[in-house]
Amino acid sequence: MYKTRGVILVAMLFCARAGAQDRATLTIHADKRVAPASPALYGLMTEEINYSYDGGLYAEMVNNRLFRNDWSGVLHWYLVEKGNAKAKMSIDREAGPSAALKTSLRLETTQTDEQNPAGVLNEGYWGMELRPNTTYKGSFYAKTDSASPSAVMVRLVDNDSGKAVATATVSDVAQTWAQHAFTLKTAAAANSTHNHLELLVSRPGTLWLQLVSLFPPTYKDSLNGNRIDLMEKLAAMHPAFLRFPGGNYLEGDHIADRFQWKKTVGPLVDRAGHQGPWRYYSSDGLGLLEFLEWCEDLNMQPLLAVYAGYSLAQEHVNPGMDLEPYVNDALDEIEYVTGGTDTKWGAVRAANGHPKPFSLKYVEIGNEDQFDRSRSYDGRFAQFYKAIKAKYPDLQLIATAPVKSVRPDVIDDHFYRRATEFFSDTGHYDKADRKGPKIFVGEWATREGAPTPNMGAALGDAAWMTGMERNSDIVIMASYAPLLVNVNPNGSQWESDLIGYDASRSYGSPSYYAQVMFASYVGDAIPETKLEGAGDRLFYSVTRNTAAKQLYVKLVNASSSPAAVDLAVDGGGVAPAAKIVSLSAPDTQTTNTINQPDRIAPVESTIHVAGSLMHHVMPPYTIQVMRLDLR
Ligand code: AHR
Repeated sequence: MYKTRGVILVAMLFCARAGAQDRATLTIHADKRVAPASPALYGLMTEEINYSYDGGLYAEMVNNRLFRNDWSGVLHWYLVEKGNAKAKMSIDREAGPSAALKTSLRLETTQTDEQNPAGVLNEGYWGMELRPNTTYKGSFYAKTDSASPSAVMVRLVDNDSGKAVATATVSDVAQTWAQHAFTLKTAAAANSTHNHLELLVSRPGTLWLQLVSLFPPTYKDSLNGNRIDLMEKLAAMHPAFLRFPGGNYLEGDHIADRFQWKKTVGPLVDRAGHQGPWRYYSSDGLGLLEFLEWCEDLNMQPLLAVYAGYSLAQEHVNPGMDLEPYVNDALDEIEYVTGGTDTKWGAVRAANGHPKPFSLKYVEIGNEDQFDRSRSYDGRFAQFYKAIKAKYPDLQLIATAPVKSVRPDVIDDHFYRRATEFFSDTGHYDKADRKGPKIFVGEWATREGAPTPNMGAALGDAAWMTGMERNSDIVIMASYAPLLVNVNPNGSQWESDLIGYDASRSYGSPSYYAQVMFASYVGDAIPETKLEGAGDRLFYSVTRNTAAKQLYVKLVNASSSPAAVDLAVDGGGVAPAAKIVSLSAPDTQTTNTINQPDRIAPVESTIHVAGSLMHHVMPPYTIQVMRLDLR
């Protein structure tokens, strides 16, 4: 994750020292704890936006495997007629393999033979990445009108050469619906995303297809799993929790489009998918159990958001009898997550492949309910709160807007801002009522740079994080949003997203690296500190890891000039070698892109600390995390 460039950094510090103007002093009383720090401060917030799952983290390569169609045809699928083959494709609304999937793609082939096959192709999510010597696992549901078994040839084809890179044949498609599995193995071909998938027949007749799926190797080899590169990037953020499934994705534009968790569990053939609020349809392949397994894979606490009766088009459910089914649905959901196999929904989870209950501490009720113009949240929250607490008294319940009837355990605050707004508000929580609910900053980001934030944004983020850290006795959790973006044309619905990718590559923005740096050094105590003589673009926080006997000093110089900072540590000696991780750029507009992913990346080095006073100079536009070992 980090480059090591000790000599260069020391040189940079010397150069910077020459131009330094203000000299600030940061005094740290290492042994005086003023407050506890939250060890779970940094986590992930996620939802289906910017092709975060379909076309992103969820490794499915087939785009529109459920054959959705509109006036333009079957999205992302095209008819193939090789040579003199003649065929047509249409949607059959009367034939499907399950109650959830009632439709299918009908391929009627009137003229075809071995040399002139016909069929359909899928273009993938802006292509399909193929790696050399790799096995891809696929399947489809199919039936035929032929009395004798029919064959379907499956091919991965290079768009540029038209040649098949891998082929397989399924030869037992019969007159009743069945799932057929296949594997496709590439040879020593070069990496490329210019590929597509074809399903071909060479005998006239009618073939019905549904749920055509293809997966590359996934993280921890999970079935129906996630992309390896993205999971590794998320793991490097050391996230303590995962807030899911939204965001607006929880609410949907309409009540009918809310995240209906019961429709997202079980075999894929029983998941119809649903319309998301970010202008595209979700396959629900990444459903409730997959969210929980994602938590398990990265050792994160699930932070479960339950639908609370408000959807974005100003639709709401009145508290009282009308809301009861939604409250019961949330109780069922919590039981699905935490219940033993002797409970109704725990048994369903076990039948879905995960007998072991998940641990759950936080449940969030709704999302951004301050936007509900009916002002029904107070009543809705109270009804959920009472029902959940009655059955699960230990759960911590999070409100998404101020409420009066009951006292929430935690309040979720959201901030989307420019860097300068964050710079002038790093003291936002300094005066927060310590006797009130705890704070979860469930969505926040500096929105500068698209599709991913630039260095100016990272400086805004880091400054804001110092404020949250200095108040992490009350700000117990925080998660940047949005997390993921597919950088292809029309892949994004929101500017400034943390991690960008296409079908084969991914990269971290400067803001991503700021998160990695801060979250890699989280302490459990806030020592007494004082910063004097600093300009208005210098920000800091200090935490202590009591067990490891370490101090973590975070410094942000958001100005265009070097900043000199003397660090004076008392209350314990400091070991002579300190580790420093530095993220720096020549300008606020400097950024990383899919083609230049590493222009800005953290650099790790060791600096010498003589005694307990350290003369330090930060280069312009720099974020640093220092680890001081206490003796
Ligand atoms: O993060 C993008 C959106 O911003 C979230 O879905 C919503 O909660 C907020 O308004």
